[in-house]
Amino acid sequence: MSCTNKKHILEIEDLSVSFLQYENNRSSRQIRLPVISRLSVSVHEGEIVAIVGSSGSGKSLLAHAVLDILPYNADISGSIYFQGELLTHKKIAALRGKEIALVPQSTTYLDPLMPVARQVRGNKTPENKKRQKTLFRRYNLGEDVDKKYPFECSGGMTRRILLTSALMGNPKLIIADEPT
Ligand SMILES: Nc1ncnc2c1ncn2[C@@H]1O[C@H](COP(=O)(O)OP(=O)(O)O)[C@@H](O)[C@H]1O
Ligand SMILES: [Mg+2]
Repeated sequence: MSCTNKKHILEIEDLSVSFLQYENNRSSRQIRLPVISRLSVSVHEGEIVAIVGSSGSGKSLLAHAVLDILPYNADISGSIYFQGELLTHKKIAALRGKEIALVPQSTTYLDPLMPVARQVRGNKTPENKKRQKTLFRRYNLGEDVDKKYPFECSGGMTRRILLTSALMGNPKLIIADEPT
């Protein structure tokens, strides 16, 4: 897709992520394990960018780096810009789940003890209820799904539920980890 006349929504510059780990379970020596090395990617408004890589190549970490939800032992360097503005910890905290949404890879992100419609809705306002219903209809999740618990949903249904959850806030940028 040609995007020369479209604005950047996301720019990742020179991103590196590494882990500090003990060499082995008998050693007190720590080693640095690089996972992402000097990656630059940009996404324009209206564009879909796919990141392809083998299992363990760092795709989920890249998503988590953008959302600032990396594990505590991860070390990150480089810059990430959203709509031209540098994403600081404070800025991403305000945007996460609103303007920038994550569709997580793992279905364990759902609360196993709460019916799915209720967790997608979040606040019990009539607007949220209406939006959840519209989104469920759009993704072919019948009315009977509303009251189901995560364990009662198939893998495909769960992916769609996670997607509707990300769309509740009407985000400008969706980061979908293993969307298929
Ligand atoms: N908390 C952690 N500590 C050490 N290594 C980790 C940690 N989390 C992930 N990794 C490593 O980072 C690499 C990339 O993981 P990931 O981003 O989940 O890959 P994928 O491309 O399959 O999504 C893997 O090799 C994994 O072992
Ligand atoms: Mg992954």
